[in-house]
Amino acid sequence: MTDTVERAIKGPSEGEHVTWFSMWFLGAVASFGVVFFPMFHHLVVNRNKHFTREAALEEKIAEYLRRQGKKPPMPAGDLREMNAKTWAASIILIIPVFFLMYYLSRDLRSHEAHEDAFLAAAFPQHLFMPQTIPIKKYVLITILTLGLGGVYWLYRLVNVYNAHFEAQWKVDQEVTRLMEEKDTENPCVKKRFVSHGGDVWGFSRKYNIPLEKVLDFSGPINSLGPSPKALQAVQENAKLIRFYPDPNPVDLLEATAAYVGQGVSADNILLGNGSIELIYMITEILHPPFKAVIPVPSFTEYEKAVLRVGGDVIFVQLPFYFNLETATIKKAITDETRIVYICNPHSPSGTLYSRELILDIAEFCQKKGVIVSVDENYIEFAPNGEGATVAGYVKKYENLFVIRSVTKFYGMPGIRFGYAIAAESLIDKLQTVRLPWSINGLAGVATLAAFRDTEFIQNTKSIIAREKAEFARKIMEIGGLHVFPSETNFLLVKITSPKITSTELKEQLAREGLLIRDCCTFVGLDNTYFRVTVRSALDNQRLVDALKEKVKVPDQ
Ligand SMILES: Cc1ncc(COP(=O)(O)O)c(C=O)c1O
Repeated sequence: MTDTVERAIKGPSEGEHVTWFSMWFLGAVASFGVVFFPMFHHLVVNRNKHFTREAALEEKIAEYLRRQGKKPPMPAGDLREMNAKTWAASIILIIPVFFLMYYLSRDLRSHEAHEDAFLAAAFPQHLFMPQTIPIKKYVLITILTLGLGGVYWLYRLVNVYNAHFEAQWKVDQEVTRLMEEKDTENPCVKKRFVSHGGDVWGFSRKYNIPLEKVLDFSGPINSLGPSPKALQAVQENAKLIRFYPDPNPVDLLEATAAYVGQGVSADNILLGNGSIELIYMITEILHPPFKAVIPVPSFTEYEKAVLRVGGDVIFVQLPFYFNLETATIKKAITDETRIVYICNPHSPSGTLYSRELILDIAEFCQKKGVIVSVDENYIEFAPNGEGATVAGYVKKYENLFVIRSVTKFYGMPGIRFGYAIAAESLIDKLQTVRLPWSINGLAGVATLAAFRDTEFIQNTKSIIAREKAEFARKIMEIGGLHVFPSETNFLLVKITSPKITSTELKEQLAREGLLIRDCCTFVGLDNTYFRVTVRSALDNQRLVDALKEKVKVPDQ
């Protein structure tokens, strides 16, 4: 026999078959069976070809044998052609098992995360749900065991689902119990709509302390006070009060746009009686029933503005360090959502979110026709505020509504001047619900002077940054208190000492003329949090000394 015939008879070596087959099989397991389809297709096609060729060869050999006068063996019978595609497609029957397991695992995980967000919003100290399947690990096990691990995965999946159903019963009972307890335990949550920082008037009356003597750490207003140039402008223009305010204050709109920069023009500016008017205005163009998504804790007035026009609020609990988890927020947005409220820098924590994060949400919401309200009231305090603001993107995202005011950074809460930056189309809609003459003439005059006071702006930035670092360091040194990093002029503090609650602390400090913001009224926080505004070194030291006395647990 020739070499070629010998090789042809033997076919490829066994080793070659094994390598080819195991490589393919590995690929099939790694791809959850998808590669099985071409593998079987290839197998059946080759089988058909092989059998056809073999039948032709048999016929040739039979003829040869007959010529020799010999009887050929019985023919193999009719060749049954297999439809390669149909046979290969039958592999579909096992592929869904893998996908089903994958999706069921993923479903349970996101379902639990969603439930956790709800439970954590209401009861931040409680951990309810069991952990679910670590999907990546199980996929890896399945691949490494060439699919066998899939059986274990299926077993775990069924068990975890059962555990989840059982846990749900217990959680139901526990939630009912906690909700009853919570209402009596934390009555301040009920006060959230009347409680704000900066109630120096009420404080002054209650404790009989003259207004200017109150050491107000509660309202995050620039402790340097208003710009002297703004004060002077108000005095010089007091005579304006005999006129109605200008209904179309072109200079003011242009100056505000120029101040914001970022390519914003006067047509993108809408003025309001403080930013609060704008927060309420934006909900007035929404028609109930609708839902508003609010990552919490956050400024309480967003919720109030939504409820006022008949909308429903969906709270999304922010994690411990208040990072903006865009995936969780996107998940909370449904077809019924009309608005999402983001506060950047975030109040009450002072966290600055990157522009990319906010734009990611804006992009997602634009496709769904959802407005994204971005409250940038504290942006000027943040050293990288210019890099984080989304004011320059209102032309690209017509659903963006950026809110600012001169209340915080310019220290003028009493003048009531706020402004929104938005696309012209959105501003046109808002004009229909706008109250006439809501911005008084003196507010405009003071704002123009303040925007031009570069010395005041520089001083505010440098003094507050310096004092904030010192203040945070000293509070941390006390022990029993955790200060969250802040890009603003305030610090959120968590009481880790069991000695006192934020409500008791506020009460005790008040008797010494020190006013702090008890954060128990924020949805998503509790009575272990309080907020303080950065003031002068002397004032801050007074508060630090008082805190030491009230919070520090004596050494054993
Ligand atoms: C985050 C935030 N947004 C808006 C406001 C409303 O401020 P104003 O109406 O004075 O601009 C406040 C006031 O406390 C606030 O903290």
